[in-house]
Amino acid sequence: MTPTPSHLTPAAATLLGEPALQRIEAIRSERWIAYPRAKQALAILQQLVAHPRTTRMPSLAIYGDSGMGKTMIMQRFRSEHPPVFDATAGVEQTLVLALQMTGRPSERRFFAQLLATAGAPRSSRCDIVELEQAAIRVLRTIGVKVLVIDEIHNILAGPHRDQRIILNTLRFLSNELSLSLVCLGVGDAREAIGGDIQLARRIDEMQLHRWVANEEFETLVALILRNLPLRKPSLLTARALRRVLQMTDGVSARIFRVLNELAIDAIVAGDEEITDEAVEHWRPVVERQAAFA
Ligand SMILES: Nc1ncnc2c1ncn2[C@@H]1O[C@H](COP(=O)(O)OP(=O)(O)OP(=O)(O)O)[C@@H](O)[C@H]1O
Ligand SMILES: [Mg+2]
Repeated sequence: MTPTPSHLTPAAATLLGEPALQRIEAIRSERWIAYPRAKQALAILQQLVAHPRTTRMPSLAIYGDSGMGKTMIMQRFRSEHPPVFDATAGVEQTLVLALQMTGRPSERRFFAQLLATAGAPRSSRCDIVELEQAAIRVLRTIGVKVLVIDEIHNILAGPHRDQRIILNTLRFLSNELSLSLVCLGVGDAREAIGGDIQLARRIDEMQLHRWVANEEFETLVALILRNLPLRKPSLLTARALRRVLQMTDGVSARIFRVLNELAIDAIVAGDEEITDEAVEHWRPVVERQAAFA
């Protein structure tokens, strides 16, 4: 057996045995990269799960620009806590329930969505009190401890009155069921949550800032490179890293994409490494196609 190349994770190294097409497909498919800030977010979320139920549960808001990896963190957190069947109670237990706030949410839509996500859909024609009581009953039965709401800034799309009602509802659910809230959204979401002072006071905040030239960013790039199945190690200089930041405005989604595409280019061209030169000359696929048009 050939030893694992030290520049790759074991999973990426295994892919080296695959034909180029498979390797390219693997690069294009989504995988989780545990960069330090994401790990920190997950550790805080884990503390919420472990927190004993009290009358005032700690909650967290994660803010960041579009593409900074909020939904990825939410999905990872959810996958770490899948529903488990409790044989004694005869029901499925879901410690972490996650949903995406709909555009222009109303109280009715929110409860209907909550019930559907919890696997107990109701007709949205039910009256509001019925929906609310059903939601509380279901969430209590399945043992929800952390309610995660992505795209929380969508609250702002509704009229002021609805915004207040939704925030009130969130606070009420947290109190009534002794559950923690985790809200994720773009910076505007802060303003939305701030609309309810009592709620805002009990929510800790975490920001996913855009990447800048520092050690954290170097770590991110190193982690991404270790996951790209190229035969040779890619040794990028500080200058190339700055170029990546410049091309991507420090947005995670774009950084992942640029490095993925560079890796694919390196496989197609047979270079098997990402070089400073390749970074320097990299252009988005759309732009390259336009040049041939
Ligand atoms: N930890 C990660 N591991 C691997 N890829 C990631 C990670 N975080 C972000 N990405 C990449 O960035 C993309 C955007 O991430 P995500 O959808 O989580 O951003 P977002 O902050 O939710 O954006 P939006 O506000 O637009 O919903 C992902 O599709 C993925 O390609
Ligand atoms: Mg998202």
